[in-house]
Amino acid sequence: METEEHGAFSPTAQEHAAAPRNYGPLEDYNGNARITGPCGDTMEFWVAVWNGLVEDASFTTTGCGSSLAAGSMTTCLARGRALDTVMGIEQEHVLAALGGLPEAARHCALLAANTLRAACEDYLAWAKSRGIALEPPTKKEND
Ligand code: FES
Repeated sequence: METEEHGAFSPTAQEHAAAPRNYGPLEDYNGNARITGPCGDTMEFWVAVWNGLVEDASFTTTGCGSSLAAGSMTTCLARGRALDTVMGIEQEHVLAALGGLPEAARHCALLAANTLRAACEDYLAWAKSRGIALEPPTKKEND
């Protein structure tokens, strides 16, 4: 994939842009956030957290292929991992997993990581308001 704006995509980024994973709202979730970036695109993430694990994560974006690739990879990095680990996912982690993004599209990974973190913070606020103890993960992470 190549656009005038964004240049060439890595094979992994191209694949995620063409067939984004975990696209669309979750039916059952307990964390949600929507952020509009400086580019004017809006990303939204949903998380389902249980016993300290992000059991599921999904996203939508109003942006172009690079934001699809970034959102898709970000959900893949989040699913099945400990909440603390997921809240530590940053732009550079998303970019590394994608095999990079063209310079003009790197901010898509920042918006994705920030929106995922905000969804996790929304979960924490929800849990606190209900007096839910934040328990340690009940199963091991894959990495
Ligand atoms: Fe807007 Fe990437 S161009 S999120």
